[in-house]
Amino acid sequence: MTDAGSLIRRLVRPAVQEMQAYHVPPASGLIKLDAMENPYVWPEALRGQWLELLRDAAINRYPDPQATELKAGLRRTQGVPEAAGLLLGNGSDELIQLLGMALGGEQRTVLSPGPSFAMYRLIAGFTGMGFVEVPLQAEDFSLDMPAMREAINRHQPAIIYLAYPNNPTGNAFDRGQIEEILDLAPGVVVVDEAYHAFCGESFIDQVPGRPQLLVMRTLSKMGLAGLRLGFLVANPQWIDELEKCRLPYNINVLTQLSVTFALNQDSLLREQSRQIRDDREGLAAALAQVPGVARVWPSRANFLTFRTVGGAAAKTHLGLRESGVLIKRLDGSHPMLRDCLRVTVGTPQENAAFLQALGRVL
Ligand SMILES: Cc1ncc(COP(=O)(O)O)c(C=O)c1O
Repeated sequence: MTDAGSLIRRLVRPAVQEMQAYHVPPASGLIKLDAMENPYVWPEALRGQWLELLRDAAINRYPDPQATELKAGLRRTQGVPEAAGLLLGNGSDELIQLLGMALGGEQRTVLSPGPSFAMYRLIAGFTGMGFVEVPLQAEDFSLDMPAMREAINRHQPAIIYLAYPNNPTGNAFDRGQIEEILDLAPGVVVVDEAYHAFCGESFIDQVPGRPQLLVMRTLSKMGLAGLRLGFLVANPQWIDELEKCRLPYNINVLTQLSVTFALNQDSLLREQSRQIRDDREGLAAALAQVPGVARVWPSRANFLTFRTVGGAAAKTHLGLRESGVLIKRLDGSHPMLRDCLRVTVGTPQENAAFLQALGRVL
């Protein structure tokens, strides 16, 4: 009988065999400041209304494949231009995967400045696309435009991803430079606005005038990470084409009902994001005062990236974890992120607990 190992070596595509699965560390019992989640839950009365709604959820039926009501809610609250089409994903991760499936192939390249969101590279890998990273400028993580122009010209990427603001660096690239990239791009440019709620800037209005522009957003950072909903806004012809690769029931009944309900509480979601944005500034200032913190980069998102004194990141990360606080270790993930850690802005109490633990372990 053949063993699983030899079957795998024979059957699984080499690019997949070489990959590492995305690792999510266990967080049970810890103050969770590692994944850019919104720390707030809804007021009790609202939770009651939501649960009432779920009582009647038709979980014995397949969901509406077009998610009609949910899309109407997104159009109403997210500034989607009327002339643009809308595609929904089980998180924006799934939209990145969909783009890979529709545009992928051995001769195709994904290009992204880096360091940036890990999924662009990972998904390029398993959808059979090449991946080119153009290093950001080490000092302030801004785009290196001569290098971007050269790489676009040389590699003719089918997809360029620009996270705006960028994860894990927190900055929003210069708008004029993004517009230049849109003009130069031979393929599509995905402006990934996952952190839009904390930044305010957007390219969504430019979609009707630019067939090569795809704007992607997620509700994950606005307090709905557990529901998994991302959306892509683009020329309707693009959406029709990408729809062919979307599985018909990718947005489940509970998500459709819950997100539609949540979008009716849009002002609450916005208020929570505003609170997080305000607290980010206080946290950045306090973090910069902690002895052993060498640098805190300004952020337009709901997290802060900071550098510890040389060689201290790994032990700080571990020490925080032992003190009950989970943040993200960036050190070791990219040469430009040596000695770097990333903390998500939590509640004022969580931020204080983090600062206190950091002062002890650093
Ligand atoms: C830039 C960026 N895009 C997309 C995502 C994925 O979001 P979702 O939860 O919608 O899959 C993340 C998550 O961290 C992100 O940082």
